[in-house]
Amino acid sequence: MNDGTMNHAIGHPESREGAKIILVTGASGGIGKRTALALASQGHTVIMHGRNPDKTRHACDWVIEQTGNPNVTCHVADLSLMREVARFAVEINERYGRLDVLVNNAGGQFGNERETTAEGHERTFAINTLAPFLLTNLLLPMLANSPSARIVTVSSESYRQSGAPRLDDIELEHSYSLVRAYGSSKLYVWWLMRQFDARLKAAGVANITVNTVEPGSAVTGLQRESLRKSPFMLPLVILWMPFMRTAAHGARTSVLMATSSSVEGVSGEFWGSRKPKRINPKWISPQGEKAVWEYCAKACAAYLDGSATPIDLA
Ligand SMILES: NC(=O)c1ccc[n+]([C@@H]2O[C@H](COP(=O)([O-])OP(=O)(O)OC[C@H]3O[C@@H](n4cnc5c(N)ncnc54)[C@H](OP(=O)(O)O)[C@@H]3O)[C@@H](O)[C@H]2O)c1
Repeated sequence: MNDGTMNHAIGHPESREGAKIILVTGASGGIGKRTALALASQGHTVIMHGRNPDKTRHACDWVIEQTGNPNVTCHVADLSLMREVARFAVEINERYGRLDVLVNNAGGQFGNERETTAEGHERTFAINTLAPFLLTNLLLPMLANSPSARIVTVSSESYRQSGAPRLDDIELEHSYSLVRAYGSSKLYVWWLMRQFDARLKAAGVANITVNTVEPGSAVTGLQRESLRKSPFMLPLVILWMPFMRTAAHGARTSVLMATSSSVEGVSGEFWGSRKPKRINPKWISPQGEKAVWEYCAKACAAYLDGSATPIDLA
């Protein structure tokens, strides 16, 4: 282990026909682990990211054992901190040089009391919105080196529970609740991905597609912390449990969008249950997208200055 990196085995993906180099964040458990399993079983090189070193290594060992694919590696970074996101991006760049697929899957849900990270960001927003924004930006040059790259970001139907977007209070300093924080973090990350798509198209970048997915309700560790901190949610979760999917089922749309030839060239869409979702136009807001993009670009400016992204950040 070195700088948070745990190297199991690395093969030479270029020498294996059709094999891609794929990074899945939040692959130590839940939907991310099942996404990594499915992609490793397709024969790709899978970079599994997690926050907890032991948990991530065990998940990685399990995927290698289940699939017989030795080209699975694991890396550790706390994505609630932008300095860690930036360090992680450097680590991935130095190690692989090229990336074909980025699956922004890591996410969290917290309690009904607003918490901030050591860098001063609301915790849900930092992990679910800011981290995918910064990581995607920093990895764009690597994705641009791929003949055909894909960015797949896991959002949630919960964006519809965010209420009216509060663009003057994006990190909910004055209007925090668990439900609003999670919902708006998932709305904003979807908006950011729409912006990535639009900006890449405007810049004439044709080899990178950008899509957002939602896995449906799945039994995972997601609500572990929110239930501990806000037990009033427990009866609702128990009532909802029979309708929840397995994590493997939740991973299906991410896997489809990551590698299926059936969606080659598809970009700028929101998919769930392995098909495009119908979106109520009230959730589409070019002005909101721009405001959230500018907010994130400002919040991450220290890490973006001088980075050679193929799109205009302004
Ligand atoms: N489950 C659902 O019903 C559902 C529905 C809609 C959307 N989603 C979304 O699906 C994605 C996967 O969630 P899940 O349901 O599989 O939940 P999960 O089991 O809790 O997995 C989340 C993953 O993200 C990692 N993670 C959390 N905070 C992190 C941080 N600060 N830095 C780095 N990694 C961090 C977790 O690491 P640890 O193992 O160390 O916690 C874990 O690997 C999330 O984006 C979630 O919002 C889930």
